[in-house]
Amino acid sequence: MKSGFTIALALVAGVANAASSASCSFSSTTITASASLSQVASCATISGSVEISGDEISSLDLSSVQEIAGTLNIFNSSSITAVNLPGLESITGTLSLDALTQLFSVDFTKLTEVNELTLISLPSLSTLNLNAGIDNATSIELSDTALSTLDGFVSSLSTIGTLNVNNNKNITTIELTNLETVTTGLILSFNSDNCSIDLSQLQWASNLTIQDVGSLTVTNLTAVNGTFNVAYNSFDSVEFGALEEVGGDLQFFANDDVTEIDFPVLATIGGELLYFNNTNLENITDSFHDLEKIKGAVNIAGGFGNFTLPALEEVNGDFNVSSTNDDFSCDEFDKLHKDGKIEGHNYECSSPSSSTSASSSGTSKATGTSGSSSSGSSSTGSSSSTKSSQAGGLMASHYLSFAALFGAMSAFLL
Ligand SMILES: *[C@@H]1O[C@H](CO)[C@@H](O)[C@H](O)[C@H]1NC(C)=O
Ligand SMILES: *[C@@H]1O[C@H](CO)[C@@H](O)[C@H](O)[C@H]1NC(C)=O
Ligand SMILES: *[C@@H]1O[C@H](CO)[C@@H](O)[C@H](O)[C@H]1NC(C)=O
Ligand SMILES: *[C@@H]1O[C@H](CO)[C@@H](O)[C@H](O)[C@H]1NC(C)=O
Ligand SMILES: *[C@@H]1O[C@H](CO)[C@@H](O)[C@H](O)[C@H]1NC(C)=O
Ligand SMILES: *[C@@H]1O[C@H](CO)[C@@H](O)[C@H](O)[C@H]1NC(C)=O
Ligand SMILES: *[C@@H]1O[C@H](CO)[C@@H](O)[C@H](O)[C@H]1NC(C)=O
Ligand SMILES: *[C@@H]1O[C@H](CO)[C@@H](O)[C@H](O)[C@H]1NC(C)=O
Ligand SMILES: *[C@@H]1O[C@H](CO)[C@@H](O)[C@H](O)[C@H]1NC(C)=O
Ligand SMILES: *[C@@H]1O[C@H](CO)[C@@H](O)[C@H](O)[C@H]1NC(C)=O
Ligand SMILES: *[C@@H]1O[C@H](CO)[C@@H](O)[C@H](O)[C@H]1NC(C)=O
Repeated sequence: MKSGFTIALALVAGVANAASSASCSFSSTTITASASLSQVASCATISGSVEISGDEISSLDLSSVQEIAGTLNIFNSSSITAVNLPGLESITGTLSLDALTQLFSVDFTKLTEVNELTLISLPSLSTLNLNAGIDNATSIELSDTALSTLDGFVSSLSTIGTLNVNNNKNITTIELTNLETVTTGLILSFNSDNCSIDLSQLQWASNLTIQDVGSLTVTNLTAVNGTFNVAYNSFDSVEFGALEEVGGDLQFFANDDVTEIDFPVLATIGGELLYFNNTNLENITDSFHDLEKIKGAVNIAGGFGNFTLPALEEVNGDFNVSSTNDDFSCDEFDKLHKDGKIEGHNYECSSPSSSTSASSSGTSKATGTSGSSSSGSSSTGSSSSTKSSQAGGLMASHYLSFAALFGAMSAFLL
């Protein structure tokens, strides 16, 4: 703290460049009054941990700051209207702006490199001043802001660790047309209804969540290594023309308007195949044409007729296919089960005309829900304010494996 104060005096004395080399290290400092801001305002590098909070500060002008190497957490204020970081080039630690109800503008003119940045519960934030745009990022979350575009912010990234953009109701298009790989997870969820998304260069993503979207372009996507969740969308058709493999669960549900889906070259699902509540989708006859192997369970329910999985060789988990359509017949699946290709403990196939169920004892290798390699795991820890609360709420009560899904999402939301 002392060093910051010293530098401030130097600045007043006109030694303008002194600031550029000043590194301030804070040990858990909390600032709640404008007068104390000078501790931070003159630092070129912030390390350690600083919290700024409360209703006594209006504008935060931190124009000397070039690097945040530690943690800067600005939160819970209904008086802060602007956060100005015009000199900030890199966040090698963490910058978090959370629960600032009146914040309408953030100045990131020089920011290019981000380790971790979270902008959460900023319902008035409509202006991000950018010049360069970010070209290197480990984790970015943007949740519940009034931003209307991501243009110039993350649109030049070709790879990212985690990008979570949720509940920004004014964002109507998301064009990440340079993005090729996502090494931890991409969540685009509950932004403007009918949001249009272009991920045309994306080749693989470790986890991918697409929710409440009006159109989706993912022509180059060949693999989702972990969980692939596609839910609550309003598009009426979608094609995953290059997708060969989902390493974890494939979850496709509550896409109410969809009448056509195509996974023409999808061969392997490493976790569970979950399909339900796609209320207008009656024809999935040819949708999973090449699907050979499912390591987890299969849970498919809907109003589809004539559904088969013509390439299916192996299902390791439980199996439940249920249709309300008179055209649907279980014959093909019963045969696969009889031939031992569907291996799980429990087998059930039902249609209005027939129904078969079987439960084998003891010897079977695979059990219930999701596959061994799937992603969700145990991390339900995070608890910061908004998240994709809507998504979570809608899902909470529903299906077997939502705990896993929600776990995965919460982990991203950290
Ligand atoms: C947020 O600030 C208000 C008023 O300044 C205070 O009453 C409240 O306890 C704070 N909430 C949190 C979560 O810090
Ligand atoms: C966000 O959208 C609402 C309507 O949904 C509109 O009233 C508001 O002006 C928009 N805000 C911005 C910053 O565009
Ligand atoms: C991204 O940042 C890391 C350090 O955080 C650095 O090592 C790396 O070279 C940067 N990559 C690019 C493409 O700028
Ligand atoms: C959704 O957006 C598409 C264009 O992307 C448009 O054709 C369609 O009418 C929109 N639907 C609604 C319900 O707004
Ligand atoms: C991505 O798709 C474009 C056409 O949309 C194609 O020309 C290009 O070869 C694809 N790239 C990869 C890596 O598949
Ligand atoms: C994801 O899968 C693709 C295609 O198989 C592979 O190239 C990539 O290395 C995988 N990524 C991770 C993080 O495993
Ligand atoms: C998917 O996300 C979860 C939770 O963040 C993470 O543990 C897992 O490693 C990710 N999957 C892959 C393949 O990276
Ligand atoms: C699926 O549909 C049922 C019946 O309409 C509904 O109760 C349930 O909430 C839906 N689940 C999801 C996840 O949309
Ligand atoms: C179902 O979709 C397939 C293409 O996936 C198409 O060839 C077929 O004609 C459709 N059937 C009906 C009844 O629409
Ligand atoms: C199922 O096949 C029958 C005849 O093969 C056809 O009349 C019917 O339209 C098909 N239903 C669907 C939903 O594709
Ligand atoms: C199979 O799925 C149907 C429809 O979702 C459901 O009613 C039934 O209880 C399921 N059976 C088992 C054994 O889980």
